[in-house]
Amino acid sequence: MLTLCLVTLTFSFLTPPLQAADTLRKYKALNFPGDSESFITFRPDMSPFSEDFSFCGWLRKDGSSASWPILLSYGGNELRMQDDGGHSCIYGVCTRLASKFTVSLGRWFHYCATWGSGSRMFREYLEGEMIASRATTEGRYLQPGLFFTLGNWGEGGLESLQLEGQLFNFNFVAREFSREEVEERAGEMCELGEEEVYRLSWMDILGAQRNGTVSEVDTECLKREEVVSRMDGARRRVEQEEVKLDRVRKQLDNILEGVERDTRKILGTEEGQNISTQVELSSNLNKKRRELTRLTSLLNQVAEILQGGEKRDLSSEDGGTSYSERDRAASKWDILYSNSYFNKEFTRQHSDQLRSSWDKVCDKLVGVTITRELIELMKSLDSN
Ligand SMILES: *[C@@H]1O[C@H](CO)[C@@H](O)[C@H](O)[C@H]1NC(C)=O
Ligand SMILES: *[C@@H]1O[C@H](CO)[C@@H](O)[C@H](O)[C@H]1NC(C)=O
Repeated sequence: MLTLCLVTLTFSFLTPPLQAADTLRKYKALNFPGDSESFITFRPDMSPFSEDFSFCGWLRKDGSSASWPILLSYGGNELRMQDDGGHSCIYGVCTRLASKFTVSLGRWFHYCATWGSGSRMFREYLEGEMIASRATTEGRYLQPGLFFTLGNWGEGGLESLQLEGQLFNFNFVAREFSREEVEERAGEMCELGEEEVYRLSWMDILGAQRNGTVSEVDTECLKREEVVSRMDGARRRVEQEEVKLDRVRKQLDNILEGVERDTRKILGTEEGQNISTQVELSSNLNKKRRELTRLTSLLNQVAEILQGGEKRDLSSEDGGTSYSERDRAASKWDILYSNSYFNKEFTRQHSDQLRSSWDKVCDKLVGVTITRELIELMKSLDSN
């Protein structure tokens, strides 16, 4: 099981982050090669922008071969911006801003146009700086349902109106940005900001049908965002692996618990019994063992006594010698102290009686241990 887990860990680190391509697409720029066949034109829903709008994004000029290089054309001159400021139009009225478009070729710059039906002011900004501002006709709103074209004019395909350069992160928002909001957006090209409502977004533009060889290209942002996104992905996976490792750790704990339980069973102790109980049990066992040793030794002594017929008092170590010493002091002649003989004349009859009783006694004594009780018994028998 552990081996399997480790294999899983190794391989999940090698798999590329999912969804990364999708979330990173918005960091792509569009390259317009500078021919009249290459442009984008479509008819998005522009009705949300009829009363207020802002149109901002990044532009990079790579050439200047066209007479009227169009960045954006909506309904011809309903809205028109050129990358050189040559014709800047709103609601069919155009002006020249060429003197303001001084950014050199190959350099990204921020362009923003704002308009509101309340202010009726059309304002244009370069790099966050307002370069032009003019009032529009009263009662005029942005007309919906017209062709929205990037990199050419009208419905596209016109000579001398093509764009040569790149566009990045151009969005239509249904709001008239303040000067500060424009400044903010002009700050950092790679910071795309929050999504907004009623927006014709860069993703929509990237998704629109293209003519010619307009292509998606990488920006520095994509490279940077790619790194950030990959780091995020890696961090997420590390977190996932930590969760997995935690699970493995818990499984190991369970296994160890099981081993402990089994060990207890093998030792014959119930779960829950603590160590002091076991010490107590073992000390009881030692007591019993000692007792058994003592009993065994006693039994051995008993067995010796039974086998050897040794005269030995078990309750007293020196008790065994006292009788023999006393016996030695006495003699068989002590019998003459008995009533039958003492202070009487010793007759033949006495002699026979004594002999026969001795013989009888001696016969009976063969194989019997002479004890005090026996002597006393014999004495009393003799005295009768
Ligand atoms: C643009 O592409 C569309 C679809 O392929 C085509 O119908 C149209 O004629 C093209 N426009 C020009 C001006 O080439
Ligand atoms: C352990 O067991 C003894 C006797 O069963 C009990 O008196 C003692 O409270 C127990 N100690 C713990 C820590 O469970």
